[in-house]
Amino acid sequence: MVTIGIDLGTSAMKLLLVNAEGEILNTVTEEYPLFFPHPGWSEQRPEDWRIALFSGVKKLLEGFDGSEVAGIGVGGQMHGLVALDESDNVIRPAILWNDSRTDKETEYLNTVIGKDKLSALTANIAFAGFTAPKILWMRNNEPENFRKIAKIMLPKDYINYVLTGVHACDFSDASGMLLLDVEHRRWSREMLDICGISENVMPALFESYEVIGTVKPEAARLLGLGDNVKVVAGAGDNAAAAVGTGTVGDGECNISLGTSGTIFISGDRFGVDPMNSLHSFCHADGSYHLMGCMLSAASCNKWFCEEILGTSDFASEQTGMMERLGDNRVFFLPYLMGERSPINDTDVRGTFVGLSLDTSRADMVQAVLEGVAFAIRDSFEVAKSIGYDIRRSKICGGGAKSPVWRKIMANVLGIPLDIPKTEQGPGMGGAMLALVGCGAFSSVREAAERLVSVTYTEEPDDKLTAKYEAQYRRFSKIYPSVKNLYKELK
Ligand code: XUL
Repeated sequence: MVTIGIDLGTSAMKLLLVNAEGEILNTVTEEYPLFFPHPGWSEQRPEDWRIALFSGVKKLLEGFDGSEVAGIGVGGQMHGLVALDESDNVIRPAILWNDSRTDKETEYLNTVIGKDKLSALTANIAFAGFTAPKILWMRNNEPENFRKIAKIMLPKDYINYVLTGVHACDFSDASGMLLLDVEHRRWSREMLDICGISENVMPALFESYEVIGTVKPEAARLLGLGDNVKVVAGAGDNAAAAVGTGTVGDGECNISLGTSGTIFISGDRFGVDPMNSLHSFCHADGSYHLMGCMLSAASCNKWFCEEILGTSDFASEQTGMMERLGDNRVFFLPYLMGERSPINDTDVRGTFVGLSLDTSRADMVQAVLEGVAFAIRDSFEVAKSIGYDIRRSKICGGGAKSPVWRKIMANVLGIPLDIPKTEQGPGMGGAMLALVGCGAFSSVREAAERLVSVTYTEEPDDKLTAKYEAQYRRFSKIYPSVKNLYKELK
């Protein structure tokens, strides 16, 4: 049996063909544009995802027998608002997870409705990137578009809808809408009322590994698939990445260094961070998890290298860096699109501190990598402060391919980091969910135990950890000293 796992990312769609032994038989990456029509806005066209899906699956199956594909599972960028009208046309470009236009609506939800009420209804408070503030933004700013809404869905649900015609969502991704009663795994009627939408525009809810339908005959023909290909509900990309790295079970941790940076802690029981700095969401294995999300992680390095230094050769920029770690006098606040966890500040922006005439290009590249690690540590500290004793973690995502960045992360956090056989977390997770949905495994946990293995562990080094402890203390003083500036720079 083979399945297709799809990671609907922000910079590209990554598709994997995976067999029931967890071997990746083929991979394809299809890029699409990201639009920033105003400062702080971030949009994509669902049509571009659809095009990527069709060309990606066709390329993926070249040289393979498409009729052997039993199922498809998608892990997708979370929180994005995709709205369709009565004729199933996309009403406007999708407003993405790292868009910060909704500061007024977020403020309204957190102050007028109130954080306590939001937390009681949904286990979370409002963050600008969540879906509910975007719905309110549309109601306030694009009333004609708002009136046309017949279906609301998240990015990966759009892909599933194109494939099956079924309007569905899974609990992990639905958790990030601020419309789900996370503890009881059902839509919150009260939150839907607050946003002015009725339950019939919302997708039907499923567990991530449950089959929502089969690929429509016309789509199957175009894609080169056989009949009866099952599509599972899939998951938000972080929950899918957690499955793909084997982060299931109580107290397991995964760090993802993708466009965003996340720390994901799985838990058997429902729990909420009392300060709501960490998100409390459903997991894709039927349980729950806490998560801190920084909006710009690997994207900071990509931006600095490509836009500022004019190179895509990230590895060359890191040459010789291994020997220099721990003593940098340059610091970087990695808040290029504002920040979510734990500071929840839409105004803050990226900032270099400590530049001097002897600062080198390499110092600045290193400061970018270190700044991301320190910002992840901020969420790690929140988890520790509420009783999570994280002794080791998995790490995945594009950034995890860099040995230097992995070493920085392991020493900034002071824990060993396990690198799974594949760093393609969300795509692998999607394929595994499909394997469960197609009956190859009886549960997500069984699939994770059987299919995920660790190939290498990045161990922290006592001396370097001590150095980074001192550096983190310095880093921690920067944001509080400058945070009031950014409102004036808007
Ligand atoms: C998680 C989040 C990001 C996106 C990235 O809350 O917003 O990790 O899912 O695709």
